[in-house]
Amino acid sequence: MIYIASLSTLVVAMLTTAVQAADTPPGKHTYERWCATCHAAGDDFPGTVALRAKYKGAVPDVLIERQDLSPDLIKYFVRNGVSIMPTFRKTEISDVELNELANFLTKAKQ
Ligand code: HEC
Repeated sequence: MIYIASLSTLVVAMLTTAVQAADTPPGKHTYERWCATCHAAGDDFPGTVALRAKYKGAVPDVLIERQDLSPDLIKYFVRNGVSIMPTFRKTEISDVELNELANFLTKAKQ
C-alpha cells in the first residue's frame, strides 16, 4: 500500500509539472536563462543599471517592462551584443528560440 501511495504521489507531481510547463509562454524560459541574469529588476543587474543610466527614466530600466522595443531590435542586440552584453550564438539561443524570445519580450506583457 505504501508503494502504491507513493507511486500516485509521483504521478500527481509529474502531471503538475507538465501542466506548469504547458502554461509557460514560449520565450520565457530563454529569457530567464540568458537575459534575466543581467536585465531583472534591481541594482544588482548590469543590464538594468546600464539602461537606467542610458534612458534616465524615459523608458523602464527592466527589459521585460519595455513597450518600445521591436522583435527585430531585440534579435539584433542578441546576435550582436552591446557594451558588456555578449553575442549569443545559435548553439546557445537557436533562431526558433530567438523568435519566441523576441515575441515574448514585445507581446507577452500586454
Ligand atoms: C552580461 C549581461 C547581459 C546579458 C546576459 C544580457 N544583456 Fe542585454 N544588455 C546588457 C547591457 C549592459 C546593456 C546596455 C548596454 C548599453 O550601455 O547600451 C544591454 C542592452 C540590451 C538591449 C538594448 C536596449 C536599449 O534600449 O538600448 C537589449 C534589447 C537587450 N540588452 C536584450 C537582451 C536580451 C534579450 C538578453 C538575453 C538573450 C540580454 N540582453 C542579455 C547586458 C546584458
